[in-house]
Amino acid sequence: MKKIVVLVSGGGTNLQALMDAADDGIIRGGAITCVISSKPGVYALERAARHKIPTRVIPRKDYADAAAYSKAILQALQEEEADLVVYAGFMTILDEQVVKAFPNRMMNVHPALIPSFCGKGFYGLRVHEAALQKGVKLSGATVHFVTEECDGGPIILQKAVEVHEDDTPETLQKRIMQEAEWKILPQAVALFCEDKLQVQGHKVLITS
Ligand code: GAR
Repeated sequence: MKKIVVLVSGGGTNLQALMDAADDGIIRGGAITCVISSKPGVYALERAARHKIPTRVIPRKDYADAAAYSKAILQALQEEEADLVVYAGFMTILDEQVVKAFPNRMMNVHPALIPSFCGKGFYGLRVHEAALQKGVKLSGATVHFVTEECDGGPIILQKAVEVHEDDTPETLQKRIMQEAEWKILPQAVALFCEDKLQVQGHKVLITS
């Protein structure tokens, strides 16, 4: 059974989708064993507690810089003996010491079709604001492995979602979550837990 550690910073709807998928038997071969939040008091922690999943809070603001914070997160991940680390609305960038310790064992869900609207500064509602400003007719979500390049790692799954003329950043965010993120994140985790993801260079092959 693979140990899945989920990193969160906010509402935790993607965490909820993962817990629901685990309950429904969609994620076989893995279990969420810990949820780590970069912020105290966020709703994601309550969702985890309701599911009786142990939680840890490692506040970003308690650490001087990304290196010190990354060290603390790395130690926690090692203590939890994580096989897979999932960024589910985790709004902090970790440095290469964490990425190197978990090569092709960390994944992130991003609320756009990478390589559009991604990289440093593109997170949460800002991503949807940028998509609406550009006037794209399709956006969506991407699940990718985490590398040292922000939002630049090998892509595991993507799903497109239509943009409506009367969308606000909030309505677009909600539709992308419902139609894409909450589906492809559990799917990607399930594929990982069944050893069906093979990284070849920059491509992820899904084996049967
Ligand atoms: C989600 O839309 C997620 O894709 C995004 O933040 C939201 C968190 O929601 N993540 C990023 O923008 C990371 N670059 P949640 O806390 O309800 O899962």
